[in-house]
Amino acid sequence: MTETLADSGVAVVDEDRLIADTLLVKRYLDRAVPPEAPSARQRAEYRDAIMGLLERRKAAIVAHYYVDAELQELAEESGGFVGDSLEMARFGRDCDAEVLVVAGVRFMGETAKILSPGKTVLMPTLEATCSLDLACPADDFSRFCDNHPEHTVVVYANTSAAVKARADWVVTSSIAVDLVDHLSAGGERILWAPDRHLGAYIQRVTGADMLLWDAACIVHEEFKARGLKDLIQVHPEAAVLAHPESPAGVLELADFVGSTTQIIRAASDLPNRQFIVATDQGIFHKLQMRAPDKEFIVAPTAGKGAECRSCASCPWMGLNSLHEMRETLENGDNEVLVDAELARQAMIPLRRMLDFGKQMAGD
Ligand code: 13P
Ligand code: SF4
Repeated sequence: MTETLADSGVAVVDEDRLIADTLLVKRYLDRAVPPEAPSARQRAEYRDAIMGLLERRKAAIVAHYYVDAELQELAEESGGFVGDSLEMARFGRDCDAEVLVVAGVRFMGETAKILSPGKTVLMPTLEATCSLDLACPADDFSRFCDNHPEHTVVVYANTSAAVKARADWVVTSSIAVDLVDHLSAGGERILWAPDRHLGAYIQRVTGADMLLWDAACIVHEEFKARGLKDLIQVHPEAAVLAHPESPAGVLELADFVGSTTQIIRAASDLPNRQFIVATDQGIFHKLQMRAPDKEFIVAPTAGKGAECRSCASCPWMGLNSLHEMRETLENGDNEVLVDAELARQAMIPLRRMLDFGKQMAGD
């Protein structure tokens, strides 16, 4: 990988590699065919079967807010959990189930397995990946780190086990700003990967000296500042809530920026009756449950053009269906396995993440 640094601190990597990453993401996107919607009768059958199987297998569902609303409800009704990536990791590690069924994307399943090597970790589908994980191959990333040995390596949780194994720290969006602020106050220079929007946001807020890997979330990158400005004109009373994977122009217009759980909390806490939300639409289920008397409007994306497959809806999160959940529990399919040595190395920065998160929460 040839590499220079742009003024912004974003690593300008080899054009060929960027094209290869884009093609790789596209190939995985083409494979992410949305599951057929089940009939009401099928849904009821799947729900009953899943409830029975969870009990029989001593299993718990650990789900993210972006997955199917019914899966989120099942998770909570059966004693499992719905949360942001940090909370999912924590719940998976602490719960006493023998089997964890992670309804989310691949990196969440891998994190659960690394933190709970003694538990069986299943996923409704192993095809559920993430554009950030795909665009940060471990070998290239490792070379990038080798070229900057004087930097502390901080990676986002949306990465493979191999990338985490190369890091000093792992963070999720809920603690990224606080951690970098803490490291920067101690004089450390940061090498950040993979999300350039989240990295640039952290850099703006903390003023830290950061080098940024060049990748993006295909869902959040579609939110458009121009359209958002227009929508704010139409709803001047609305507060804008945004996930920090969104582009800078969108974040500048936001009244609140935070992780998915922090966004849900802000919607309840803020006095506004209306909110414009720049993150995956899966979150609307929980937003509406927590604040039933408030109105939530999806932030504008690139439009309804043929290319906009990911508009406010993660195609990989969308692969988690009731049908796949039942099949997985029935057959023990889609087990997440992580190489033992990689898991040992990745455990170190993951533990630091959980300890720092605990410290932040004052636990
Ligand atoms: P959170 O940790 O905020 O839930 O984000 C995970 C994610 O993948 C957002 O796209
Ligand atoms: Fe990855 Fe974006 Fe999907 Fe989150 S929404 S899992 S960052 S592709």
